Amino acid sequence: MSPNHENCPHNEISGLSVSARDASCSEASRQGGLAHGGGSSDVVIDGASYLPSRHTVPIVSVDMLDEGVVQLVIRDRYIAEHAQPAQFANLYTHDGLRLMPRPFGICEIHGDEVSFVFAIVGAGTAQFSRLKAGDRIDVLGPLGTSFDLDASARYLLVGGGLGVPPLIQAAQELHREGRTEQVTAIFGYRRNHFADAIVGRYTEDVRSIDETEGNVITVLDRMEDELAQGSDRIVILSCGPTPMMKAIAGWASRRSIPTQFNLEERMGCGYGTCVVCVVDTIHGRKKVCLDGPVFTAQELGWEDEK
Ligand SMILES: Cc1cc2nc3c(=O)[nH]c(=O)nc-3n(C[C@H](O)[C@H](O)[C@H](O)COP(=O)(O)OP(=O)(O)OC[C@H]3O[C@@H](n4cnc5c(N)ncnc54)[C@H](O)[C@@H]3O)c2cc1C
Ligand code: FES
Repeated sequence: MSPNHENCPHNEISGLSVSARDASCSEASRQGGLAHGGGSSDVVIDGASYLPSRHTVPIVSVDMLDEGVVQLVIRDRYIAEHAQPAQFANLYTHDGLRLMPRPFGICEIHGDEVSFVFAIVGAGTAQFSRLKAGDRIDVLGPLGTSFDLDASARYLLVGGGLGVPPLIQAAQELHREGRTEQVTAIFGYRRNHFADAIVGRYTEDVRSIDETEGNVITVLDRMEDELAQGSDRIVILSCGPTPMMKAIAGWASRRSIPTQFNLEERMGCGYGTCVVCVVDTIHGRKKVCLDGPVFTAQELGWEDEK
């Protein structure tokens, strides 16, 4: 395989000869994008659709942003070219006792560098936190659906804790499209405001709060008059703890503001085969990894939350 294909995720698609893989690589990359609200970022080759496959990439950097919060940057041209806001990637440990991947929201993309921000909560995230620049890691992605950013609207990105990465990617995408004025980041933290500087690259309007001051609903309540006076349509994108998202759903529904929620259910495979991640929706049980992670409050039946 030529060096140009070292980072190509199609190199594991079964049933393709080496020359066919090489020939299909760039074409598949061009076709592999995701329509907003569609399924995972499938690769289409000769009319058949494949998931991007697991591949090995180099680590660019691993930095501690806060106590127990890590920023991990990988070099992955495929994910960098295809990831849409709210899509996630599976990272794999090299430990045979931990075969299941760990899913993480894609946070920022610069050139072919893709960053993740995660909390160290268990053995897998602890292992990732000990990686160093130059190490290699197995990754699969981008996976899942994306936020719909098509509306001409003022977007309120409302995140709690480690729910901020997909919202940062949404802010980066809106910034890339020259829509910075449409973005307000409202982040709630336990203590340190560790993601303000990162999202501050994409919007000047960052209103964050820690638990000594209140929570994101406190900020939304304070914005009530401002939101009522503005002429822009408002859309809320949110990710974080479920009680926080349900409170936002209720707050928004009382004001007829549309919402899109990024769910972070426990996952096994991350691409639709194990059924670990199902949630109840008004359309029946859905897989968060494949049918989501983005759902509206209406789909989740959260509109009547108090
Ligand atoms: C779509 C999605 C995006 C996510 N994005 C982020 C992010 O940007 N930053 C961040 O800090 N965390 C994120 N998470 C949560 C993150 O995946 C878990 O914290 C992580 O998998 C825990 O791994 P562990 O080995 O340290 O913990 P363990 O508890 O040892 O994990 C055991 C198993 O449970 C799964 N698991 C445990 N907690 C979760 C969880 N909350 N969600 C899904 N699977 C879990 C693991 O994947 C693993 O298979 C996301 C989860 C999902 C589903
Ligand atoms: S995580 Fe396996 S089906 Fe969703």
